[in-house]
Amino acid sequence: MNKALRKAVIAGNWKMNKTPAEAAALINEMKPLVAGADCDVVLCVPYVDIPAALEAAKGSNIKIGAENVHFKASGAYTGEISAEMLTALGVEYVVIGHSERRQYFGETDQTVNLRSLAALKAGLKAIICVGETLEQRELGYTETLLKYQTKMALTNVTKEQLKNVIIAYEPVWAIGTGVTATDEQANEGNKYVRDAIAEVYGADVAETVTVQYGGSMNAKNAEGLLDKEHVDGGLIGGASLKAADFSVIVKAASR
Ligand code: PGA
Repeated sequence: MNKALRKAVIAGNWKMNKTPAEAAALINEMKPLVAGADCDVVLCVPYVDIPAALEAAKGSNIKIGAENVHFKASGAYTGEISAEMLTALGVEYVVIGHSERRQYFGETDQTVNLRSLAALKAGLKAIICVGETLEQRELGYTETLLKYQTKMALTNVTKEQLKNVIIAYEPVWAIGTGVTATDEQANEGNKYVRDAIAEVYGADVAETVTVQYGGSMNAKNAEGLLDKEHVDGGLIGGASLKAADFSVIVKAASR
């Protein structure tokens, strides 16, 4: 049904893991395992690993992404990296607004929006993360929050630019905890995101946007999650650091 309109995307988020040499080794291990996948395969890696990752992925179906991007093109922003710097290297994707950035580095809905606009303007594909904390869920704010975060992130994003947007629903309580959302909770969260997109861009457009689930997705639970109507892929942390596990998830998304 509508799921067929959308491209399944499995993206690894390596976080602060792997040296350049380790990155190349892991990608070389993954390449044969994910070859021929019927979904997009992306690895978002630390900035310093990008050249080695691009080189290792050359000629394969693995695309390389960054884990963040600044909203200015250049200037006095010590420690930051611009969208142009990423595209100059050959990077195609970037993760924006991951909950770890929001939690530890002062990322707000507004900066997530600015980073998204800069990435899209530069031609990058933006994987924008949204998600509720356990407290917000228990208070009953999940739908309100997911819709708010989604709309805030997409402020001033055009319908045309939306084609390069992936939203990742990542419940904060499920990230790196080993506690996965149930298939139903993931589907419901992803649906809230899609509803928010529909409220701004119309239902037809919303049906075409890839919405991923992320949060302890692994080789065992991926199939059930990815079978759900609104789950069009995954943003994978821990399991993307293991070639065998990651390839099982890619295969589950390729069915
Ligand atoms: P996890 O991380 O798969 O290790 O829970 C997901 C993410 O943070 O994107």
